[in-house]
Amino acid sequence: MGKISALKGISNTFQKHQASYSSPRKRPHKRDHAWLDVSDDDLEVRSAKKQASSSKGMHNQNHAHGPRKKPRVSAPAHLPGREPIQMQRQQLPIYAGKDAVIDVIRQNDVTVLIGETGSGKTTQVPQYLLEAGLAGSGMIAVTQPRRVAATSLASRVATEQQTSVGSVVGYSVRFDEASSSDTKIKYLTDGMIVRELLGDPLLSRYSVVIVDEAHERTLRTDLLIANLKTILQARNGSASAARDPKGKGKGKAKEPSGKPNPLKVVIMSATLEAEKFSKYFGGAKVVYVKGRQHPVTIYHTATSQPDYVDAALRTFFQVHIDQGPGDVLIFLPGQEDIESLEKSIDLYAKQLPKESLGVIILPLYASLQPAQQAKIFASTPPGMRKVILATNIAETSITIPGVKYVIDTGKCKEKRYVAKTTGTGFDTLLTRDITQSSAVQRAGRAGREGKGYCFRLYTEESFKKMPATAEPEIRRCTLTSSLLQLRCLGQNFEELDFMDQPDEGSVASALKTLFLLGALDHTKSLTPLGRQMAAFPLEPPLARALVASAEWGCTAELLTIVSVLSASSKLFVDTHDAREEAADARKKFRHASGDHMTVLNVVKAYEDVSQSEGKKARKDWCRRMFVNERCLAEAANIRAQLRDVCEKTGVDWKASAEGGQDAEARVLRAMVAGLVQNAACLQPDGSYKQLMGPSVVKIHPSSSLADKKVSAIIYDELVYTTQIYARGVSAVPRSFIAEVPVFKRRSV
Ligand code: CDP
Ligand code: MG
Repeated sequence: MGKISALKGISNTFQKHQASYSSPRKRPHKRDHAWLDVSDDDLEVRSAKKQASSSKGMHNQNHAHGPRKKPRVSAPAHLPGREPIQMQRQQLPIYAGKDAVIDVIRQNDVTVLIGETGSGKTTQVPQYLLEAGLAGSGMIAVTQPRRVAATSLASRVATEQQTSVGSVVGYSVRFDEASSSDTKIKYLTDGMIVRELLGDPLLSRYSVVIVDEAHERTLRTDLLIANLKTILQARNGSASAARDPKGKGKGKAKEPSGKPNPLKVVIMSATLEAEKFSKYFGGAKVVYVKGRQHPVTIYHTATSQPDYVDAALRTFFQVHIDQGPGDVLIFLPGQEDIESLEKSIDLYAKQLPKESLGVIILPLYASLQPAQQAKIFASTPPGMRKVILATNIAETSITIPGVKYVIDTGKCKEKRYVAKTTGTGFDTLLTRDITQSSAVQRAGRAGREGKGYCFRLYTEESFKKMPATAEPEIRRCTLTSSLLQLRCLGQNFEELDFMDQPDEGSVASALKTLFLLGALDHTKSLTPLGRQMAAFPLEPPLARALVASAEWGCTAELLTIVSVLSASSKLFVDTHDAREEAADARKKFRHASGDHMTVLNVVKAYEDVSQSEGKKARKDWCRRMFVNERCLAEAANIRAQLRDVCEKTGVDWKASAEGGQDAEARVLRAMVAGLVQNAACLQPDGSYKQLMGPSVVKIHPSSSLADKKVSAIIYDELVYTTQIYARGVSAVPRSFIAEVPVFKRRSV
C-alpha cells in the first residue's frame, strides 16, 4: 500500500470534496424527466399545432402513425463496440420508427425531427433516406456546426455502409474535403454549405438538406435556414405545404424544364425547440423520437469552485477510487484546460495502487486528429477506465458509448463580438457559464446505457441562475463575413427572413468593416474587390490582407502568415513547466517588427529542418524550439488550399518579397490593409489606444513585442483577462496606416 501514501494528499482532499456535495436531487430541472422516463412509444408524429406545451403530455397524443409497437430490442447490454455494426444500428431507438420517419419526410417538404442525443438521428436518418430512394439523382447533405462532428460522423456512417470515407459517404469542412462523384451522403459544416450557396444558390446538387443540431442556432445554420426557405419556394413552389403525398417524386431526376428536383428539408435537434422551427416553416410536421434514458443522479457542489480544472481533477480521482467501473466524461471549456487536466490526471494516475483500474485519458476538442477521434469510440479494455476530456462537442453532437459518470465544470467557450471595445470585425472566444439546457444535456450523457451519475462543479443556486437557453449567434457574433456572403448572393440582412433578426447595430458595424476593407462601396454595393475576398474561406480582414499582397508582390509570404493564423492550434507551445526555456527558444525566431514576421521566420526554419533532416529530427527540433508541429502541418494544408483559390481568382501566389530590401515593409503593408481596424497608437503612458475604437490595449505577454514601445501597432485579436491585451502584434509606421485607401479617400 506504499503507493497510496503517495496519493494521500490528494485523497484527503477528495474526502472533503465529497462531503461538500449536497444531497442528490431527483428533479433538478423541470425538463429532466425527459431523460428519466423510458417510454414504450419510440416514435410519435404530431403536427406542431397540437404540440402540448408540457412535454409530459407528449407520450400519448395523436399518433398519426400510431404508436409503433414493434417488439422492442433491448438496449445494448454493454459497449456497442462489441457487437456487429449492423446489429448496433438496429438497436438504436430510431430504428423502431424508421418507416414512419421515411414516410413523414417523403410526404412533407419540411420535417422537424426531435430526438434525444444518441437516439440515432444523425447517423441513421441519412441512410434511411438513401435506402428509400429519397436522394434521387442528387445528394443528401447533413450539416453540423462543428468540423470534428462532420468528419467523425462521416467515418462512422461510411463504416456502417461498408465503404471508406469519400465514396458513398463523404464530408466537407473548411480546408478539408473527402467526396467523389459517388458521394450520396455528405456531412458538412454549416459554414461549408453556406459557402456552396455562393456557387449554387439553389443548392441544386442536393435532394435533401438535413440541418442537424439546429438548436445550437449558429450564425451559419440560421443563414442556411433563411436561404432554405427561399430555395424551397424556388424549387418546390412553396415554403412549407405538404407536397407529393403519394411519394410520386421519389427518385425523380431533374425535370424536363431543367429545374432541379424538389428539395426536402429536415431540421434535426436534440432539444424541444420544435415549435419555433415548425412555425418558421409555416407549421411543418414535427416528429419525436424517444430515446432510452436511464436515471441520472445529480450532485452539486456546496460552494462554488473557481478553479474548475482542479475541482475536476479531484472529482475524477474521487470517482475513480470510490466508484465501480464505467467511463467518465468531463466537460471543460476549451483545449487549453483539456490539455492541462490531461497532464494532471496522467501524473496522478501513475501513482495509483496496482489493484485499481488503469486510466485511459482521451481528449476531445475541435482540432483533434482523426486517429485520436477513433480511440474515443473504441471500447474500454477490461481493467481500464476511459476518461474523456471534452468541450461541449460531446454535449449533443457526438455520443460516446460507455459513459456512466459525467463531471461538468459548467463552463464553455462562446464566440462573442464585443463591439463596444473591439470595434473590429472579429469575434472573441470567452469562457462563460453554460445554460440550463446544456447542463441537462451534459448530465444526460451519463444515463445512456444504464444508471448514471453527474457531478456538477457548481452549486444548485448557480444552476438556477443559468439562462435557460443560449442566445442565437446571430444576436451576438460579428456579421462581417456573413454580410459579405449575403451581398455576393444579392441579399441583405434586412430583407431576408431570419428566425431571429440581427440587431441593427451589428449590421451597421459589419457594413462599416466591409466598407473600410473596400469590399462594399458607399452605396453598400459589392465591389469587385469584395467578390474576390469572398472567394477565400477566410474572415474578411485576412482575405483582404491576402488580396492586398498581390499589390505589394508578397503573396507567398502572406499565404504563409494567413495559413498559420487560420490553423486551429497555436504556433508556439505554451508550457507552464518550462516557461523560460520556451521564451529562450522563441528568441531565435524573433523579428524586430513583431509577430507576423516572426511567423515567417519559424516556418522558414522549419522548412529548412524538414528538407535537411528526417522526420524524427524534425520532431525533436519542434520539441526543442517549443514549436507546435501540428499547427505547421495544418497550416501547410491550409496554404495549399488558399493557393488554389489564388490560382482560380488570378492572384499570383508565387510572388515573393524575399531577399528584397523592402520585404518587411511590403508584408506589413499588406497586413495593414486587412487589419486596419485593428490598429492602435502609442500613448504617453505607454499603453496603446485603438485608432477605430475606444479601448486602450496592452501588448500580450506572449508577443515578441511585449513591453516594447513602438509608435503604432496592428494586431490579430484582443484577449480579455484582467486587461485588454492585443495578441499577434506587429509594429508598423503610422504612414502605412494613413496610406490605406479608405483613409486616403477621406484624406485622414
Ligand atoms: O444524432 P443522435 O444524437 O440522435 O445519434 P447518433 O449521432 O446518430 O449516434 C447513434 C449511435 O452511434 C450512438 O450510439 C453513438 O455512440 C454511435 N456512434 C459511434 O459509435 N461512432 C461514431 N463515430 C458516431 C456515432
Ligand atoms: Mg446527432
